[in-house]
Amino acid sequence: MTTRITERSLYAPLNNYLKELGFNSASEIKCSKGQLDILASKDDKCYIIEVKIGDGKEKIIQGLAQALRYAKDNDTGNVIVINYPESIREEDTENLDEVALMTVTNTFLSTEYLTETKDVSAKQLFDELNALHLSKRRTGIVDINLVIKAISQSIKNINSIIKRLNKKDVEQLMDLITGKLDLFVALSPVKKKDVIEDMALTLISYLLVNQMLFYHIFSKKSGRIPELEEIDSLDELKSQFEKITEIDYKSIYQIDVISRLPENTRIINSLNDITATIKVVKPELVEHDLIGRLFHDLLPYQTRKILAAFYTNPVAADILAGLCIDNSHDKVIDPACGSGTLLVSAYKQKQRRDNGSTTKSLLHNQFIGEITGMDIMPFAAHLTAINLSSMNMKTATDSLNVGVMDTLSLSKHLQNRKSYDIKEFSRELQTTIDLFKKHSRQTTLTSFTKSHSTGAVTADSGDRTFQITKNSFDVIIANPPFSDREKMPNEYLKVLDSYTPLNEICGSKVNLWGYFLALNEFLIRDGGTFGFVLPINVFRGMATQDIRDYILDNYTIKYVVKNGKSVAFSENSQLRDVLFVAENKKPRSDSMLKFVIINEDLHSLSLSDAGNISEYIRGELTDIDKDLDVTQYRQSELQENRENLMPYFGVMRIKSGKVLSDFKFMIKNRLKDKLRKIRQEDTVEGFTASPAGVSQMTFITNNYGGNRTNRAFLIYDHEDDDKVYAKIRGLKSEVFEIPKTSIRPAFRTLTDVHSFNIDNKLDFFIEGEFPKSDFVLELSKFNTQKHTFNYEDIRRTSSAKLTHMVVARRFSPHSPNTSHFAFSSNTEFIPPDTFKIMSLDLDSAKVNTLYLNSVMGILNIILLKEQSTGRLTDIRQNDLLLLDVLDTEKLDDKTVDELLGLYEKLKDEEFDSLSQQFARKTENRLKLDRRLLEILGFSIDEVESILPRVYEAISYELVSG
Ligand SMILES: C[S@@+](CC[C@H](N)C(=O)[O-])C[C@H]1O[C@@H](n2cnc3c(N)ncnc32)[C@H](O)[C@@H]1O
Repeated sequence: MTTRITERSLYAPLNNYLKELGFNSASEIKCSKGQLDILASKDDKCYIIEVKIGDGKEKIIQGLAQALRYAKDNDTGNVIVINYPESIREEDTENLDEVALMTVTNTFLSTEYLTETKDVSAKQLFDELNALHLSKRRTGIVDINLVIKAISQSIKNINSIIKRLNKKDVEQLMDLITGKLDLFVALSPVKKKDVIEDMALTLISYLLVNQMLFYHIFSKKSGRIPELEEIDSLDELKSQFEKITEIDYKSIYQIDVISRLPENTRIINSLNDITATIKVVKPELVEHDLIGRLFHDLLPYQTRKILAAFYTNPVAADILAGLCIDNSHDKVIDPACGSGTLLVSAYKQKQRRDNGSTTKSLLHNQFIGEITGMDIMPFAAHLTAINLSSMNMKTATDSLNVGVMDTLSLSKHLQNRKSYDIKEFSRELQTTIDLFKKHSRQTTLTSFTKSHSTGAVTADSGDRTFQITKNSFDVIIANPPFSDREKMPNEYLKVLDSYTPLNEICGSKVNLWGYFLALNEFLIRDGGTFGFVLPINVFRGMATQDIRDYILDNYTIKYVVKNGKSVAFSENSQLRDVLFVAENKKPRSDSMLKFVIINEDLHSLSLSDAGNISEYIRGELTDIDKDLDVTQYRQSELQENRENLMPYFGVMRIKSGKVLSDFKFMIKNRLKDKLRKIRQEDTVEGFTASPAGVSQMTFITNNYGGNRTNRAFLIYDHEDDDKVYAKIRGLKSEVFEIPKTSIRPAFRTLTDVHSFNIDNKLDFFIEGEFPKSDFVLELSKFNTQKHTFNYEDIRRTSSAKLTHMVVARRFSPHSPNTSHFAFSSNTEFIPPDTFKIMSLDLDSAKVNTLYLNSVMGILNIILLKEQSTGRLTDIRQNDLLLLDVLDTEKLDDKTVDELLGLYEKLKDEEFDSLSQQFARKTENRLKLDRRLLEILGFSIDEVESILPRVYEAISYELVSG
């Protein structure tokens, strides 16, 4: 009878082969912690070998954990794991020797000679081991993936212990990361508290392992501190850490996880396992360029995704640093340094600009001394400190200028002083908290960074201080937070308001990034440069007008770089952003700036591509094999159009930008006295459907199109003279009868509405009780516990919302179900607040429905639309006021009649989707645009020559925007 191959059955053939090679080899040896698979020795060296069968990397990690335990017992650091594929269980046992020795296995080898993981047969592995043993040659390299795999497992292990601690201990630990939870939530894209809490604990485990790992690497590389040792108490690990913080690196160790861990055997054992793992995988042998990546990749993927708001894409960071750092001695600051990616890029750029005259270690400390990073989040300072120190681990970094503070407070500190000392971590935060005292009763340090008063974040005092000198920086590089100010905690908004010098520059409506731009006033030297990652909104809108004016009037803009393929330079950002580089020098009348669109996916570019791109943009490289679209603008032209610079920077392709702005210019010139801007009083919000459920209780959606009812609740079924009959989606059995006396016409969604006249497309609005309305209320999302619903209120608010015309406020221009964005009807109707009501007389409404849906209106939408990754485009009130409409009072009667005639002619025509209309130049699209332009005075020849180019450009922008 044949038996299946097991792990145990493999020991004998492996043992035998080792013996053939002259090893003393035995299997199934009892140890204090279990039974090890194979112990091989030769001369005075012994090797622990664990054998596993199974697919997936867990097996090798399991084997490693076991091997490490036995290694301690046998006082050796040499461990080997051999992981056979699951399929060998099916192999014939008759050929056991061959199967055991010749099957390709996934192996892990960590010996004093070599540390690596690879796919080889056991025979090859043992031959190699023997050769290494005999030659006693040490290779001095280690496979980074193996180190990441093994140490990641350590993070997982300690994390699972931490997660099971009691609630109080967990809260204490979490405080270290989230600080004041509100602020942390406001700064991160994820708003769910439980997800953040889970992430915070993983981050804690990561930070702790980082601290141990950093200690180990530094100790091995510099030889300036003793080795990481196993411990019997948490205090012992703390004293070890003190050895490194005596040198510096306080920002790495200031997040004092150890002091908040409860003292118990599980924790101590787990920490000792981490030490053993770190020692055995030898991370100090990871290639020097990859140390930063090691720390980065150890952060579990899920956590990294949540923390993306604290990171910048490294390619973008290299491009930006390349564009703003000219000199190896440039003094650089990042006032919102996050994980420090931009500063690492700055360091590398300084290296590139160095002529190589100084020694590496001197250079390292010089560069580090010239680089300053600040962040309000302690863990960000930890990451920055690690990343900067990792640039050269052999040299002790004794001048790390990384601080934790609300950097914006520097505007106060530097208002009447030349310089400001960044003191130890805790005291620095205290100054920020003092600002809160007036508003809240919390007076301790922890009131700002923490939800609970659980003691100081860091205990040590008498730390080194470093100085921020006013207007001393050559370069300010930053990817400031894009968070909406509305989402910031109230108490922080009050703090922002108190930064008078900043508010004077940027106004008090802009989001946080505007304040960081204003802070440049206090940091940058004359002639210095700033390079910021900024949201595209810097180019338009009222809230950003002050900061836009400040930059346009005081700085000479050098480069604006946008990405045509990836949405954002920031990791995982929803908002389109740009790299913005400017010099602190008043612009001259002939100052020119370069606008560049990188038509490459950022993730497909290497760091050396990034270097080439910035050199190409600067003009230091004349040729490049990447798709870059470059044009130049005169700053004075931007100054003249300062209200809205989107026509310059909003486009996705410079060629289309040129076509569209020429067309816009032509329309403006020709129709100048016939056009006017939409006025504030022309527009009213549609019916506000809040709280949740109100919309479900009021709108009945007509179901003439396939997708119209997708998000509907009440759906039209049929009607007779007196009543409308409706069903709830998914509840086919019940038909609700709503008397027509309780119904008004409505327009709930533009989905699948392919004509711009909606007389025959209207939905229904319920404004009075109907039989079983209580039952409908119960099934709706309306929360009757919190609010009371009654149709009387609805009637009162909705009657002011009747209109002949709407424009969509939130819609998806590239959706196959969107054909128009302005609609009108002879009958008055009630729209929800996803539309803006246009309060125009009926004729004017019709004329402007045509105009806004024509190529001229769509052009404006393209140039104004919110650029975000979301499917929906938001046309904000301020944007709406930038749109032109035809002023019917300025048009002669004949023109108005002709326009109304065109409306009548096309009103029942069904148009394709907006993107199809432009891509395929559809018949209806041409009918509308040709005739409209003609009525407005353009010649047929003009129209024929212009439209194809404009359609092509709009089509491109619709698809890629
Ligand atoms: C987009 S991240 C920066 C990413 C960073 N450049 C990088 O490459 O890793 C923005 C940072 O601003 C920090 N921040 C927000 N408000 C701040 C303030 N008032 N003072 C200092 N830092 C602040 C956040 O904690 C976050 O780390």
